Amino acid sequence: MQNIKVTLLIGASSAIAKSVRDNLLANGEFVIAVSRTTADISHPNLEWFVSDYSDQSISSICNNIANSMRPLCRVGIFLGLLHNDDFMPEKKLEDWNFDQSRKIFHVNVEIPLMWLSKLAPMLSKAWHRAEPKVSIATLSARVGSIGDNSIGGWYSYRASKTALNMALKTAAIELARRAPNTKLISFHPGTTDTQLSKPFQARVPANKLFTPDFVAKRLLNIMDTSNVDGTLSYLDWDDKSIPW
Ligand SMILES: NC(=O)c1ccc[n+]([C@@H]2O[C@H](COP(=O)([O-])OP(=O)(O)OC[C@H]3O[C@@H](n4cnc5c(N)ncnc54)[C@H](OP(=O)(O)O)[C@@H]3O)[C@@H](O)[C@H]2O)c1
Repeated sequence: MQNIKVTLLIGASSAIAKSVRDNLLANGEFVIAVSRTTADISHPNLEWFVSDYSDQSISSICNNIANSMRPLCRVGIFLGLLHNDDFMPEKKLEDWNFDQSRKIFHVNVEIPLMWLSKLAPMLSKAWHRAEPKVSIATLSARVGSIGDNSIGGWYSYRASKTALNMALKTAAIELARRAPNTKLISFHPGTTDTQLSKPFQARVPANKLFTPDFVAKRLLNIMDTSNVDGTLSYLDWDDKSIPW
């Protein structure tokens, strides 16, 4: 058990997260999963926490992980909200409203940052810094790129992913000091066949709509091969840099 790699997956009911989990379990690794919903599988190498992503719940799960003193070699943060039963992404300025924007920023920026805030004390501990590398990948999106935005729309989702990138860049600078074995990645999976992209798949060519398994393998490869360089990498599924 001591030598098995441990990966923390936050937002573990995401279709991409489930594929990452399945790849890791098939490889004999250990997965700690966190989700609002209960586990859909049971496995001896899977520990599952149900969370409402409140400050208290996140603290309690992070304390639990820290108390076990099993270092994490990877952290994946999959949380992302684009649409729900009440709203779709904004097409024009008049569609923008406080309620939708607040919900999207809460899930896409605030909850991931709360996780990093609660994980940082453990990542800074000597027993965790002794790990060769801790890869932390947060699911971002190409639409969060200011340089790449040529078609507009999706105000709240775009702006939330841009804000997420800035927060992650700032965290990378801090962690380079406090936990220099950490590598932060802001990852764009490409259009992937999940609930999140369902309403927008009609005009995506079949060869451009990825399976969660394809993306999971790409993400794990990037997490495992990226260099620890004290900064944030904004990368797509093909390991190519995306302009900020
Ligand atoms: N699919 C794509 O084409 C695509 C493209 C670009 C970027 N992304 C990004 O990839 C990530 C994973 O998404 P996916 O495609 O795998 O979609 P998905 O299967 O719909 O997963 C949604 C994720 O967001 C979390 N979530 C959704 N609503 C939430 C809420 N109200 N409060 C808290 N958490 C909530 C879920 O966490 P629970 O486990 O707690 O349910 C889950 O981790 C997202 O960050 C998304 O922005 C996806």
